[in-house]
Amino acid sequence: MTSLWLADRIATSPASGTAEDLPGVADVVVAGAGITGLTTAVLLARAGRQVLVLEARTVGACATGNTTAKISLLQGTQLSTIAAKQGKSLAAAYLDGNRAGQDWLLSFCAAAGVPVQREDAYSFAQSERGVAAARAEFEACRALGLPATWEPHADVPFDYHGGVRLAKQAQFDPMPFLDALRAELLATGGQLLEHTRVQRVSSSRHGLRLEVDGPHRHAELQATQLVLATGIPILDRGGYFARVKPSRSYCMAFDVPGEVTSPMMISTDSPTRSLRYAPVNGSELLLVGGAGHTVGREKHPIDALAELESWTVRHYPGATRTHLWSAQDYAPVDELPYVGPILPENETIYVATGFNKWGMTNGAAAALALAGRLLGERPNWDRAFASWRTSELRGLPTALAANLAVGVNLAKGWITPTAHIGQQCLGTDGGVVSGPPWRLQAQCRVDGVEHRLSPVCPHLGGIVTWNDADRAWECPLHGSRFAPDGTLLEGPATRGLAAGS
Ligand SMILES: Cc1cc2nc3c(=O)[nH]c(=O)nc-3n(C[C@H](O)[C@H](O)[C@H](O)COP(=O)(O)OP(=O)(O)OC[C@H]3O[C@@H](n4cnc5c(N)ncnc54)[C@H](O)[C@@H]3O)c2cc1C
Ligand code: FES
Repeated sequence: MTSLWLADRIATSPASGTAEDLPGVADVVVAGAGITGLTTAVLLARAGRQVLVLEARTVGACATGNTTAKISLLQGTQLSTIAAKQGKSLAAAYLDGNRAGQDWLLSFCAAAGVPVQREDAYSFAQSERGVAAARAEFEACRALGLPATWEPHADVPFDYHGGVRLAKQAQFDPMPFLDALRAELLATGGQLLEHTRVQRVSSSRHGLRLEVDGPHRHAELQATQLVLATGIPILDRGGYFARVKPSRSYCMAFDVPGEVTSPMMISTDSPTRSLRYAPVNGSELLLVGGAGHTVGREKHPIDALAELESWTVRHYPGATRTHLWSAQDYAPVDELPYVGPILPENETIYVATGFNKWGMTNGAAAALALAGRLLGERPNWDRAFASWRTSELRGLPTALAANLAVGVNLAKGWITPTAHIGQQCLGTDGGVVSGPPWRLQAQCRVDGVEHRLSPVCPHLGGIVTWNDADRAWECPLHGSRFAPDGTLLEGPATRGLAAGS
């Protein structure tokens, strides 16, 4: 599963180093080279800070290189949901932050020659069930001063029951953007090491002591400050793993014989349909996203994928799939992103998470907020991006419900596999966890190669499940993911699955 953005890439930047090139001391370390980490790094490097970016995999490997990449202030039903839960003032601050993120990103792209398409964005009802939510979003946009319009009709080949439109939003291919950020970082004296994972962080007399791991080397370094731009924070302090919900979705690109829908569209009712086009080699591919589920908790994600594909072919006859990919992002329990010190009053470790699948503007906003904080110039909208806030209590019922589900999935993972005792052999490709609780085993076969592993997630002991669409192991507790051979892909875990017996 490789995204349209990561497929057939010709390297446009010099290769980055790995753990072998690690310095012993750094001023600011940024963990994670997605939009949030690289933008933060560039902003800090511009201000003269010495920045070292450590990326566990490669630039853009997780959400940013697998996103739909709409750069929009109209974000499904975000504004109405935030206003209803957090009030108009925080919703306005959230919008201001996203506007600042969008403005920064668009000016950076213009200056760096990164192609961007300006298109209208819609949040639309695909059935009567979605009309109230679309209307609420329209009212929220107007109340917050966005020049949105209500469109009873739209020129689209699928069911449309009215929607809100915001003109002149944007979309792009996120990889040339990340390439340009990387180039500026290196040109301003920053350093970027790929295949270098931060595993542990502790306090030392000289600041922070980081333990990092690369393919050939385990090493340590000292740093003054650390920014965790790792999607979900990898350190457990602050309990962010319990304050966000990991949600995975799928995207497909299609070659369509007829007209491709021009505006960026997302439905307000389920199942989610998210659309945009992408210019490729003088023509346009249609991108369709959806089939979302909580990581590790969907029995057969492949069924929802098949439904999404048949929906597309039904409405765009002759559409042929060219790419299929997936990614995950994190929904905060109280609707607002968490950006700032990992713990209250801590000014050495910072986090940025909870973008709820709107991280193009939120990731840039988070970077502006973090850089502002580290450089002593905080933007006035950053109260909507706080890592700790008293208003979080409003999200408490959601947090309790989410963690109840985590507890249920923990118990289910350990107890249910007893039902599979004796199922030791997989006929075709697939994965299964079997055995009694004292001898659980994860076994999968992919392209004829079989792997036997411990199914116990090294983060906090969840039992992984098999994702038949992604062909990967997923932890249903906090969203860590592992390749068929147990290699860590993403999530709060910092190690892979252990070998099985
Ligand atoms: C299917 C999907 C569609 C989306 N569509 C849109 C959209 O249209 N518009 C929009 O605004 N947003 C969208 N989003 C959301 C957006 O893509 C994300 O919010 C955003 O990319 C997050 O960026 P990030 O830099 O914070 O995280 P990431 O891009 O995930 O980067 C985190 C990086 O940290 C690295 N890392 C992890 N652990 C470590 C470690 N221990 N040490 C070092 N490095 C580590 C990872 O390898 C990764 O490269 C979508 C999300 C999904 C899942
Ligand atoms: S991700 Fe937390 S236990 Fe697996």
